[in-house]
Amino acid sequence: MKRDHFYVTTPIYYVNDKPHIGHAYTTILADVLARYYRMLDVPSHFLTGTDEHGQKVWQAAQAAGITAQEQVDRTVIRFQDLWKKLEITHDDFIRTTELRHKKVVQGILQDLYDRGEIYRDEYDGWYCTPCERFFMEKDLVEGCCPECKRPVEKIREANYFFRMGKYQEWLIEYINEHPKFIQPDYRRNETLGFLRKELNDLCISRPKSRMAWGIDLPFDDQYVTYVWFDALVNYISAVGYKSDDAQFAKWWPASYHLIGKDILTTHTVYWPTMLKAMGLPMPQTIFAHGWWLSGESKMSKSLGNVVNPMDMADRCGVDAFRYFLMAEMSLGQDASFTEEAFIRRYNSDLANDLGNLLSRVMKMVGSYCEGKLPLPAPDALNGKDEADLWAEVQKAVAEMEKTLQGMRLDLGLAAVLAAVRATNRYLEIKQPWTLAGQDDKGPLHTTLYCAAEALRVASALLSPVMPGKMQALRSTLGMDETKTDFSRLQHFGLLKPGSEVKTGDPLFPRIRTEDAPAAPGKKEPEKKTMPSTPEGVALISYDDFMKVQLRTAKILNAEPVKDATKLLRLDILVGKERRQIVAGIALHYKPEELIGKTIIVVANLQPAKIRGIESNGMLLAATSGAVMRLITTDGEISSGIPVK
Ligand code: MSP
Repeated sequence: MKRDHFYVTTPIYYVNDKPHIGHAYTTILADVLARYYRMLDVPSHFLTGTDEHGQKVWQAAQAAGITAQEQVDRTVIRFQDLWKKLEITHDDFIRTTELRHKKVVQGILQDLYDRGEIYRDEYDGWYCTPCERFFMEKDLVEGCCPECKRPVEKIREANYFFRMGKYQEWLIEYINEHPKFIQPDYRRNETLGFLRKELNDLCISRPKSRMAWGIDLPFDDQYVTYVWFDALVNYISAVGYKSDDAQFAKWWPASYHLIGKDILTTHTVYWPTMLKAMGLPMPQTIFAHGWWLSGESKMSKSLGNVVNPMDMADRCGVDAFRYFLMAEMSLGQDASFTEEAFIRRYNSDLANDLGNLLSRVMKMVGSYCEGKLPLPAPDALNGKDEADLWAEVQKAVAEMEKTLQGMRLDLGLAAVLAAVRATNRYLEIKQPWTLAGQDDKGPLHTTLYCAAEALRVASALLSPVMPGKMQALRSTLGMDETKTDFSRLQHFGLLKPGSEVKTGDPLFPRIRTEDAPAAPGKKEPEKKTMPSTPEGVALISYDDFMKVQLRTAKILNAEPVKDATKLLRLDILVGKERRQIVAGIALHYKPEELIGKTIIVVANLQPAKIRGIESNGMLLAATSGAVMRLITTDGEISSGIPVK
């Protein structure tokens, strides 16, 4: 994939309040994309900023008893501090109160006015103060604002209008001819649905007598510019429109405007018609993501369930927070943020799979190879297990590139985690702890080196999402390069044998649910004590118990059973023996979460057929109401070990 440039933007955020998870999400997403494109060596530009004019900011200032300028100067710092904390690598931060922006907005207004694209008219309409928008009588829904459903106010005043309506047919045609212009597809259909009604001209002024906090209209000093007409222009004023032609030619049109689904109309109707009137090319893609919900409900201040990103980063670590947001939301759709979901994903992907793999490899290199990366066999990839492992790693590289283009980073990340699990599985199969006892150290060295190579590639693929932790991982591997480069990921053998690896604290210490810090305002769960001897349970003798052979087993593979919503078919390794079992855990675990786990099975159970599939053993799990948890081992141990 070769692009000549990559220019990504976030919405510019209102500075009427502190940042929340919605702001953090879009900005992290833009950051992750920009970091990937930099890795691909595509010249990239990442813009974010703040929307500092308009009624919302004005009202917040009034409520705080300060001037609007004081309000914006104070609040912008909270955004800038958060971006520092979240390791956001924007190339530019634009504030709409900056002169460089105001001059461009005024230049555009004057030009459109001179060309008759903006005209003055007496207006009779309904105004929604929270939405800062005018509506015609016919647009109202039961006499209220069609957007927010709140009461509207009848207003008659002279204003300035942009001839948006005349671009309606052109816009419909443009959208139809450019399927990538509005993404995902269902958002394109939403805009086309909106355009089925007659498109009115857009009121782009506000009389100062009502609200003076805005950019002065250059042709009438009694008015300021409507906040959206001002704000949207940031995407071009920041990259040199009307001020630096070379810079503007370099970056415009934007590759992606990332937005939330609630600001679709302003971005897919107002903005394209404004650009068309200015004679400028359209951005390549306007991508609307879904909303983060708190559990099942909308986040709102009044419900007190708004997730504060600063808090989350403090409590869970910046990288884990970034990873959760990117892995959990399937781009476009809504996603649910809960503490439980966070801990589950953290423990399974980061602590169990990735963190555990790193610490196993490092410990073994420490104990068996004097802490130096061993030299693999020259034909290492000729071994079947090694070739399979490397194929899985390369699949992750290809998937990441593909899903980056298709904006499905969640799937790209899942492919990387699959490669990590494949590496854990590879170690189970090769058993380096057994190989270490052999005189010929060749197989041991090849195994550890191949696992380290898999970690090199996986960490590079994850580095845009978890920059700090992946840098730490790479330095543990003895790598000193600071810049990761996609082109190096297809080559095997780039780690230097002999380089010293480091051991240290676990990269992602497991969160025990009982240790999880309670969110502010959330009650600590009550600790329950279990009775020591459950009543009515018959006691059995030690000999009876010993009849049951419990063994550790490693899950090599897991897949759903066709037409059985509750069942999964598992391939497990019990010592050297491969077995298949069928387990009723599909409602509680996704197949990919299970791979690599060490579980406990009843190894001497008579085989049974479940849905026509033979099951050779039974796994142990604890069930409480709707919750089921597998019984696993507390740390690393081989499979096939008796449990007593
Ligand atoms: N200032 C305008 C944007 C102008 S862009 C030229 C604005 N600002 S905002 O601060 O209110 O919202 C910024 C973004 O946050 C929007 O994209 C909105 O969709 C997003 N979110 C607000 N709450 C959200 C969630 N709960 N989840 C995800 N994003 C949400 O609108």
